[in-house]
Amino acid sequence: MIPDLWYKNAIIYSLSLDAFQDTDGDGVGDFRGAMRRLDYLQGLGVTAVWLAPFQPSPRRDHGYDIADYYGVDPRYGSPGDFVEFVNACHQRGLRVIMDLVVNHCSDQHPWFQAAIDDPTSKFRDYFIWADKKPADADKGVVFPGVQKSTWTYSRKAGAWYFHRFFKFQPDLNIANPDVQAEILKIVSFWLQLGVSGFRMDAVPFLIAQDGINIADPAPAYGLLREIRAMAQWRKGDAVLLAEANIPPDEALEYFGADGDRLHMLFNFPVNQALFYALASADGELLKDVLRASAPLPETAQWANFLRNHDELDLGRLSEEQRQTVFEQFGPEPDMQLYGRGIRRRLAPMLGGDRRRLELAYSIMLTLPGSPVLRYGDEVGMGDDLALPERDAARTPMQWSGGPQAGFTTGDAPVRPLIDHGPYAYREINVARQRADGASLLNWTERAVRLRKELPEIGRGSWKVLDTPGHILALRYDWEGETSVIVHNLLGEASEFTLALDRGEGDQRDLVCLQTDERVAAEADDHYVLILQPYAYRWFRLGGLDELVRPHGSQH
Ligand code: NOJ
Repeated sequence: MIPDLWYKNAIIYSLSLDAFQDTDGDGVGDFRGAMRRLDYLQGLGVTAVWLAPFQPSPRRDHGYDIADYYGVDPRYGSPGDFVEFVNACHQRGLRVIMDLVVNHCSDQHPWFQAAIDDPTSKFRDYFIWADKKPADADKGVVFPGVQKSTWTYSRKAGAWYFHRFFKFQPDLNIANPDVQAEILKIVSFWLQLGVSGFRMDAVPFLIAQDGINIADPAPAYGLLREIRAMAQWRKGDAVLLAEANIPPDEALEYFGADGDRLHMLFNFPVNQALFYALASADGELLKDVLRASAPLPETAQWANFLRNHDELDLGRLSEEQRQTVFEQFGPEPDMQLYGRGIRRRLAPMLGGDRRRLELAYSIMLTLPGSPVLRYGDEVGMGDDLALPERDAARTPMQWSGGPQAGFTTGDAPVRPLIDHGPYAYREINVARQRADGASLLNWTERAVRLRKELPEIGRGSWKVLDTPGHILALRYDWEGETSVIVHNLLGEASEFTLALDRGEGDQRDLVCLQTDERVAAEADDHYVLILQPYAYRWFRLGGLDELVRPHGSQH
């Protein structure tokens, strides 16, 4: 039997409840608000919603500092509202994925409080301690500039504790079997309440067993298998989608050579190479990274994205490549972050140029894997560089040009709305774009629909076709269907040839799904294509709508 690999063609929409839709006027988005917008999301064509952390938290890192793994932050509603939200999603065929943040918890979590209060408490060993400040305490910092060290002294505990991220996020000690059991219980709890899976936070750090030996931690890959096994016992088609910014050659360790660890990984190397391709019009790095990202076990899948709630991390590019992206998309110092990233939204990075936005989206939607959209990018929302750090790209959703952009009836939104310049909510909003058939919103909706009509992209085998450096051409094959997706990274028109090797007797034309034009092969079985500046074309051999006569049939 073919297992239900729904996630291999999922269209995932990521949102933070606090910035999406408020209903009670306190300026903080909530579950009831998000529920009201589910028909919008369904109309956009997404099939799964990824919720940023919504559990009780001091929210010193946007909720990635959890103080109670089993609760709902009252600002977002009650546990009952959560369950209603999940039900409302299911009624519309939408799945819910939530963050699983178990590399660390908040220093306000009762486990940590018990651990610092009492050295004999069993919770002491839930964390990682040292009597003296470790020699490499200043190494391995994730947020340079805003995080000083990875070890902090607790006066109450009389010892140093390890924290990969901010000092209010003590790392959990996963070498402790009790901590592992806690993680499995959390997974089990939320699956039981109806979620379809988890976006697992900071996985390389989670499985790095030895906090003290930062330079060379031994990864506990086996833990991933246990979490997966537990998740699938509870719910057969549950998925684990990992945030793991790792080089392509480590990916199989995360997926498991037999596909028995994580189902999905965000493809960070591809994300960075894609921005380099957009910045330089040179697609060779992207093609190399794509080739290095294959092949995967049958049940494994990449998740592709343009922007997320963090900075655009360029840490895997060479210094020269990174500078090229900075120059193009984040030239000012306040656009950059941690020396390696850009804290802007997609639309301003691309200068609001509709052709380049479509190009970027078109590539992301058709890369091998499943696409993950970021709330607001479907209307081309901007950023607010006056906000600190990563908050620049976390402003409230711009629903309309009315008061507070339709986000809240109150007058104090959780973060300020963008109200000036070309990305102000009076200019850029859902209501206006809904009414305009040519808007980015309606373009995105059509593109998502077409992506769903090409299941070979998520399920099939694929290869990068030979083309000039500024042309990206990918071919997908699955169950007798073939699609060919081409992109021109250059701001100039370009003509090129494609060799397809269709197989003997196969005379099918390439049919462009955006224009319904047919391109016939030349006598030598090559196709000649012309792409306008920054243009894209999604082709299906034979098109989407003609039934193919079985090969060799006489009738
Ligand atoms: C990764 C998350 O994406 C980021 O937002 C967060 O600050 C860190 N993990 C720590 O949880």
